[in-house]
Amino acid sequence: KPGQRQRLVEAHTAASEFYAEALHSPEGQVARAFLLERAFDKDAAATFGCGYAPDSWDALTNHLHRKGFSAEELTVAGLSKPSRSGSLIDRFRRRLMWPIRDTSGSVIGFGARKLFEDDQGPKYLNTPETPLYKKSQVLYGIDLARREIAKQGRVVIVEGYTDVMACHLAGVPVAVATCGTAFGSDHISVLRRFLFDSDAFSGEIIFTFDGDEAGQRAARKAFGDEQKFASQTYVAITPDNMDPCDLRQQRGDAAVRDLVAGREPLIDFAMRSEIAKHDLDTVEGQVAATRAVAPMLAAIKDRALLQGYARRVAALIGVDLAPLRAAVKEAS
Ligand code: GTP
Ligand code: MN
Ligand code: MN
Ligand code: MN
Ligand code: MN
Repeated sequence: KPGQRQRLVEAHTAASEFYAEALHSPEGQVARAFLLERAFDKDAAATFGCGYAPDSWDALTNHLHRKGFSAEELTVAGLSKPSRSGSLIDRFRRRLMWPIRDTSGSVIGFGARKLFEDDQGPKYLNTPETPLYKKSQVLYGIDLARREIAKQGRVVIVEGYTDVMACHLAGVPVAVATCGTAFGSDHISVLRRFLFDSDAFSGEIIFTFDGDEAGQRAARKAFGDEQKFASQTYVAITPDNMDPCDLRQQRGDAAVRDLVAGREPLIDFAMRSEIAKHDLDTVEGQVAATRAVAPMLAAIKDRALLQGYARRVAALIGVDLAPLRAAVKEAS
């Protein structure tokens, strides 16, 4: 419908003001305490527009009705939903709220974290797919990061809302997060505007992942099929199973900056962690490691780069270049 997009943005803007006000009301105490515990002060909360969804079935719904938004508009926006009895109720309750903005700064959705362990529902809840909110394209923090991404020619991809906040406050203002979904080609298309010169990829994509197995797996398939192991893709693995938010909280701003500065090329990381799975003291282990890395090397299109990596990997595994080359050829 013409004008619908504008109406939905207006409803979201009013909702984010409502949540932000509730954060500073007496019942917002629990959300303020959560933020403070994470080392996010009042200024930080204001910068990111954090809010609190009150403990009510319909506080926001009623508020937006009074502002002239119809039941249909609130439902389409994903802010309200019909209850089992048919009345319209708030989607988010008793949660810490992060407004999610598009590249031009319009609020298009929310991320919401549970504050009471015993509450039902997942720890994080997001706006569902709506005409405004397409989760495959959403990058939390892009409105704040876009200028720096273009200026520095790099973007840092983190996992969560708190990680984006931590990075920005620690002096890494190029951080963004996907919202409850894997980083994919739609996200790359969004970043293309800021990171790509005409059609040529120019810039660094730095993934920070947790140091656990899930994070490593995510790192390995980070770039999907689109740009497999492009030489400009890097990984920064957070130590000791922390994420960037934990890191800043426990070790300070400099530790977050050091994490990013110490990034490692994705391909190095991927091959190193693949090789580490095998026992290189045995010939069987060496052969298995060679087979495991061969498809990764085969995916490298740049011949010079392939040569260099093949030499390094052969040395890492402790085999000659010839059998590695043969394995790569077989995997091509
Ligand atoms: P905190 O306890 O808030 O620090 O969470 P965490 O660091 O354990 O978050 P985690 O690394 O598990 O999640 C990071 C991001 O993944 C969140 O910001 C969400 O966007 C998403 N996420 C995590 N859990 C859920 C979930 O249960 N549902 C959905 N939809 N998304 C989730
Ligand atoms: Mn977790
Ligand atoms: Mn995690
Ligand atoms: Mn965390
Ligand atoms: Mn985390």
